[in-house]
Amino acid sequence: MSVFLQMQDITKQFPGVLANDKVNFEVEKGEVHALLGENGAGKSTLMNILYGLYQPTSGSIFYKGQKVEITSPKAAIDLGIGMVHQHFMLIPALSVVENVILGMKPERGSVLDLESAAKKIVDLGKKYNMDIDPWAKVWQLSVGQQQRLEIIKALYRGADLLILDEPTAVLTPQEVEELINIMRQLTSEGHTVIFISHKLNEVMAVSQRVTVLRMGKSVATVNTKDTNKEELARLMVGRDVFLRMDKKPCNPKEIVLKMEGVECLNNKGLKALKNLSLEVKAGEVLAIAGVDGNGQSELVEAITGLRQVTDGQVVINGKDMTNKTPREILEEKVAHIPEDRHKRGLVMNMSIKENMMLMNYYKEPFSKGITLDWNYIETHSEELVEQFNVKTPNIEVKAKNLSGGNQQKVILGREIDREPNLLIAMHPTRGLDIGAMEYVHRRIIDERDRGAAVLLVSTELDEVLSLSDRIAVLYEGEIMGVVENDDKVNIEELGLMMAGSKRLAS
Ligand SMILES: Nc1ncnc2c1ncn2[C@@H]1O[C@H](COP(=O)(O)OP(=O)(O)OP(=O)(O)O)[C@@H](O)[C@H]1O
Ligand SMILES: [Mg+2]
Repeated sequence: MSVFLQMQDITKQFPGVLANDKVNFEVEKGEVHALLGENGAGKSTLMNILYGLYQPTSGSIFYKGQKVEITSPKAAIDLGIGMVHQHFMLIPALSVVENVILGMKPERGSVLDLESAAKKIVDLGKKYNMDIDPWAKVWQLSVGQQQRLEIIKALYRGADLLILDEPTAVLTPQEVEELINIMRQLTSEGHTVIFISHKLNEVMAVSQRVTVLRMGKSVATVNTKDTNKEELARLMVGRDVFLRMDKKPCNPKEIVLKMEGVECLNNKGLKALKNLSLEVKAGEVLAIAGVDGNGQSELVEAITGLRQVTDGQVVINGKDMTNKTPREILEEKVAHIPEDRHKRGLVMNMSIKENMMLMNYYKEPFSKGITLDWNYIETHSEELVEQFNVKTPNIEVKAKNLSGGNQQKVILGREIDREPNLLIAMHPTRGLDIGAMEYVHRRIIDERDRGAAVLLVSTELDEVLSLSDRIAVLYEGEIMGVVENDDKVNIEELGLMMAGSKRLAS
């Protein structure tokens, strides 16, 4: 019997980067096949070739027993290949149903029938346990909902091979569980799934086989039941990786951020933060734990001047900064690692070096008077690229041509390097491989030890527990309780607070 999908000797040369180097990749029908590798190893490139977005420099693809030329995503869709990208490709101003049928030809003799498309979407949603309102506008959806929409869109178009490029990076633990169930259901019905993830627990839980890429080459394909996380990490990175973080006890000083009775609205006009008060001191990491969508985004936007505060006060460095402009707030030495690197973090059409100076270009040493000091800017960006291990041929490369994880490293480098008084780190290691995660955790703790106040927002309990000194649980826009992160921290209690069923007496 022939292999379901066979990618043979695939090479992809970008200017200055050999992204895929004679990669061999085989997938059987009905399996979940995980694709692993460090940031920049070539995973998305290989999948973009399979989806017809890129043409390989050389190599061949065999699919369902035939040699195929996949010259466009449309050709891929016609073959039954669907892809959910690392960065979603939805149009925010349109509704769910409009996004699904966008670009599809209406059936012969009929105009596009929104009603029946909407019904089909609801049916698909029911079948796979995905709750989705076909008439909602995409900008109103949470990230998890947008992702379910991308999956429904692919299934609607008849995909039987589904490529999921880091789908879980943006999901809450509960949504990850749900997605794993969806993958299991899909494969039990005969669909095939290619699953990219940096999270080895998930890979171990859901895949039957794993292929590892390293520096553009396929280094191994193993059966999941015959391997373990340590071996996979070693195959990926080429060395042992330590995921435990050693840190000194914290030494908190003066209050840097104080929020008092803060309220604001979400995008739907409903109350997102309710009478919220918290403090972060210099030299400590306060983590906001909680299920995504409980006000985390609004909290960070309220501090950084990106969202109107309707009541209460935001005080930074002792100054009332409520509803000041983002620029005025930055001037208080506030650094912000945003949740959405495309919208707020990077200018995709600018080079790495331009992105690196984005926050500081008007100040010394980046400029003198009204002229930019390019020498300084260039040496400085090269240093950051080196420190944060951004994989790129040079600093002139545009942000959009970096791999997902390497884009995140550019933002981290720029923000951490500003020696902030207040570092707001929202999902700082999303999309990072395990080696890069190790480094970024270290740098965040170094900032704390230098005396920065760190506000960490993360839905990864592991990350919260390994980095923070205190943990505040956010539920439906309210702080349910704040606990010290010490030996006595009770994980069950945290879980209950995250679910809103328990409030600590404070
Ligand atoms: N359009 C492009 N132009 C130039 N270089 C590119 C382009 N797309 C990707 N690259 C480069 O190819 C290499 C592989 O990138 P790719 O996106 O495939 O990595 P990845 O394994 O998906 O990494 P990550 O885990 O960070 O998402 C990287 O060095 C990247 O900078
Ligand atoms: Mg990628």
